[in-house]
This record gives sequence, C-alpha cells and structure tokens, in this order.
Amino acid sequence: MSLELSPIDKAKFAAAKKACDYVETGMRVGLGTGSTAAWLVRCLGELVREEGLRIKGVPTSFRTEELAREAGIEVVSLEEARWLDVTIDGADEYDGELNLIKGGGGALLYEKIVATASDQMIVIADSSKHVDRLGAFPLPVEIIRFGWQTTKALVEETLLGMDVLGREATLRMTGDTPFVTDEGNFILDLDLKRIGNARQLSLMLNQMPGVVENGLFLDICDVVVVGHGDGRIEVC
Ligand code: 5RP
Repeated sequence: MSLELSPIDKAKFAAAKKACDYVETGMRVGLGTGSTAAWLVRCLGELVREEGLRIKGVPTSFRTEELAREAGIEVVSLEEARWLDVTIDGADEYDGELNLIKGGGGALLYEKIVATASDQMIVIADSSKHVDRLGAFPLPVEIIRFGWQTTKALVEETLLGMDVLGREATLRMTGDTPFVTDEGNFILDLDLKRIGNARQLSLMLNQMPGVVENGLFLDICDVVVVGHGDGRIEVC
C-alpha cells in the first residue's frame, strides 16, 4: 500500500491498521462506513488476500459492502451472522466516556444495529474527533419520509425543552434533492452546538413518531483507537 498520504489520512490509516489487531480468523466482523472505515476494509482485505485471514464481514452500508467485496472479504448479512465478535467503525465525535456522534456519512441506523449486535465495538478516529462534550458536530437523526416536515417541526419543538445550545434542524441534501439513506429514509442534521444531557436527548428523539434513530451512540463503544498525523497511535 503506497503511503504518500496527507497527515489526516495517515492518522486514519494508522488507526485502521492498529484496529486489525482486534480481528482474528473465524470472527464475524461488523464493517463501518466512512473514510476511516474504508481504510479498515482495505487493511483487512490485504490481510485476507496476503496473510490468509478468514473472516465474515457484515457491512453497515451498500458503499462498504462494495468496498469489502472488492477487497476480497467474504460478505454476509446480519441475518446470516446473527451476532458479531467485533464491529470496527469511524465516528464524527467521541468524548472522554467513549460516547459518540455518528452518522455524518448517513449510515447511522445500520451502524447502530450492527454495533449493538457485537461483543465489542472499536472506534477508529483521527485525533480531531475528540471533544470534551458532544454536540459541535451536527447530530444526524434518521426520519421516515412520510410527513417529514411535521417530524422536523416536532423535533425543533422538542429541542426547546432540552439542554442544548442550538436548535436548528436541517434536512440533509445531495445537491437539489434530499439525501436518502440505504433504508430509504431522510436525515435531519441538528445544529445543537453543545449537548448537555445526551441520554435524555436520545430518549426524547427516539420516542417521536417519524424518528427512526439518532446518531448518539451511548454506552456502545468499548475502545477508541486514535491515530495522529505523524502515525502515532493511542488506545483509549
Ligand atoms: C457514517 C459515520 C462515519 O463513521 C463518520 O461520519 C466518520 O466518517 P469519517 O471516517 O469519514 O470521518 O458515522 O455514518
């Protein structure tokens, strides 16, 4: 693998490569989505092709599925795998308690289902993803298309009573059309700036009709492998 990389890619690659240490032959492995997770898939593919690693990969998006097949990783569905040994995925933010914001790539629903069905969730991230408090990154919320304007209004109204600094919900777009998730849903990005009580917020959001899932991953992640621009690694 050529290593003429920018510092950020060097950090992502370093974290992804280190995370391969958590994977052994025979494991069922959840494969995350995003640019950091793509490094992981490439690294695992190299181990499969050149070192004889045998794993079954459960992708968290169509994009990752394609990448995994190209890399030579055996792909199975979550229905086939049922339960996974480990899931390795990126994150948009992680805090000191290893709580996360995910969904910047729009795959939060499958990512949360797969991570929750795993003995262990390992997050791989460059050091810029660390925050003291979650919320600077807009919180993605997956909602069904039917009545989405009503759901957006309900979400904004609910935010009035929450311990957050910002309250704006924006429908995620791809050019002129709404972004559509692999499950066929829309995404609202909530500009909250600072989340005071992530647990309460997550519960409130998920109990609203129209909301499918939100991007707060609380008590799901076990380990964060942090990569730095100079190739150093930290394990939290
Ligand atoms: C996708 C995700 C990604 O893991 C998250 O957006 C981080 O992506 P990247 O590694 O490209 O920074 O949650 O839904």
